[in-house]
Amino acid sequence: MCGIVGYIGDKSAAPFLLDGLTKLEYRGYDSAGIAVYGDGNIFIEKAVGRLNALKEKLKGRMPEGVVGIGHTRWATHGRPSDRNAHPHTDCHGNFIVVHNGIIENYMALKEELLAKGHNFTSETDTEVAAHLMEDLYDGDFAGTVCKVLKRIEGSYSLVFMSKDHPEELICAKQDNPLVVGLGEGENFIASDIPAIINKTRSTYILNDGEVAIVKKDSITITDREGKPVNKKIFNVSWNAEAAEKGGYEHFMLKEIHEQPKAIRDTMRGFIKQIRPSKNNHAERIASDGSSIVFPELKWDPEFLRNIDKVYIVACGTAYHAGLVGKFYIEKLARMLVEVDLASEFRYRDPIIDNKTLTIFISQSGETSDTLAAMKESKRLGAKTLAITNVIGSSLAREADQVLYTIAGPEIAVASTKAYTTQLILMFMLALYMAQLRKTVNEDRTRELISLLKKIPAQISETLTDVDPIKTFARSYGFNEHVFYIGRSLDYCVALEGALKLKEISYIHAEAYAAGELKHGTLALIVEGVPVIALATQKSVYDKTISNIKEVKARDAVVIGIAAAGDTELEKYIDHVMYVPDTDELLIPLLTVVPLQLLAYYAAITRGCDVDKPRNLAKSVTVE
Ligand code: M6R
Repeated sequence: MCGIVGYIGDKSAAPFLLDGLTKLEYRGYDSAGIAVYGDGNIFIEKAVGRLNALKEKLKGRMPEGVVGIGHTRWATHGRPSDRNAHPHTDCHGNFIVVHNGIIENYMALKEELLAKGHNFTSETDTEVAAHLMEDLYDGDFAGTVCKVLKRIEGSYSLVFMSKDHPEELICAKQDNPLVVGLGEGENFIASDIPAIINKTRSTYILNDGEVAIVKKDSITITDREGKPVNKKIFNVSWNAEAAEKGGYEHFMLKEIHEQPKAIRDTMRGFIKQIRPSKNNHAERIASDGSSIVFPELKWDPEFLRNIDKVYIVACGTAYHAGLVGKFYIEKLARMLVEVDLASEFRYRDPIIDNKTLTIFISQSGETSDTLAAMKESKRLGAKTLAITNVIGSSLAREADQVLYTIAGPEIAVASTKAYTTQLILMFMLALYMAQLRKTVNEDRTRELISLLKKIPAQISETLTDVDPIKTFARSYGFNEHVFYIGRSLDYCVALEGALKLKEISYIHAEAYAAGELKHGTLALIVEGVPVIALATQKSVYDKTISNIKEVKARDAVVIGIAAAGDTELEKYIDHVMYVPDTDELLIPLLTVVPLQLLAYYAAITRGCDVDKPRNLAKSVTVE
């Protein structure tokens, strides 16, 4: 999730680039940079930190030139630094590139280019694109871009600029947004509409596989073979605020809808075809060509094999992801796991030794309690692993090892895509450990990997029909108490669903292990009380149905969440929402989605400030 801008015309490029990047700063803000062509040279300036750091560097030395590209970064490969900030260049500074996305095969390409004598200056995946341009260049700028696109695998929106072809910018899209804005005697490029909305409302929204050759008075769109594509102009009718949210009413809704992509991006690094190597401890674990690999984990596999206890420590939604992670590691890798709230962990004198692995989950990587718990864990001699969404965050810097979710910036206070990407990462980690410890056989591994790959499309399916959720939210949005029940992993998801509802709609919501109701909570179940019952865990299905009957017998209004194909649940309750069927270990990734939407629409019904709920902050940096 980075922001990209480009300008070509008669006016000075730099002011537009900086203004555009300001509008896109919400997409990434760990470093920024621009490149401007003028007088036969390309001027590049970059700065780590917020965009203001770049603006400061440019004070009094704004580059002159009418062609330029710019980038605001959310790091994925390579920590935030001046060196890793975009734009990147080839060895001789002839080709300049900015990129949003992940070039999956960059390591192999980099090795090939290094062997040919190319000199790399950053740790990014992006830089290979500039060197490939240099390597494949045959005098035809657009033609060479097409050749480069054929060599790279992964997701991208890319903009190329060339010292030898200052009359054009070339951009390409695959799985990441890219838009070309039409001006008079000038044209614009951006990853997102907010960057250009005050310049033009006439745009070409590029599709996957399309390439645009952008000159100051013409735009040609082709496919990757160079064949022209007939494109319709899209007139943007959104206002600037709506454009920032990609047309969604709130960031939370946008982020809920971003989950399929966030999950795909997070999985990308870990499910691949890879040759096992001594250096990265990669292990081939499925025979269909797919493997779970953790090249980032530099621990000796022997350590992972011999761990005798795991603690997962986190706060809020990340803690709920940890509860699911416990199931994954215990079920798949057969290791004892305890899950702790970070604010409790460090004060309870945990039993830790050098065979203990402590995993700290935090979207922001800045949560004070989680950080303090990690420090305590290190002091006691445990190995520490951070799972975070922010490269270079305090937690990432402090941990022995780090795994990143690639959810992109999460702006709404209510965490959604961070949670599902944390679940995906925990699942893959558990499967990786299971392989090392030989606790899951190859057939089961293959089955799970193949189901895992279907999850993004299944989430998209869950997001297509939200009307029943809206209706339910409208009908019950003014109830002051809601109960969530479920068993096993359904209980873990119920906890997250209840938290979502509490924090943004201010409805009192409680989640209970369904079997626990009769030990006290059943006293609160009276006529008309809404109960959300999750019944997707096949291994405890009958028991869950019995608990549902208990609440129904007290005249609760029961809304169920079941897997597609379930014909039983609807016999007992008021309404059922179905999610696509998958393995019971993976279904939390699907069941949480209607719960996120339910919280969202309940908050809308009650007129709450969805993205900025009262009394809460996105990142809690105080104890
Ligand atoms: O950045 P972190 O993941 O460490 O944040 C932890 C919690 O503060 C966070 O998940 C919080 O509970 C969310 N607002 C829940 O939606």
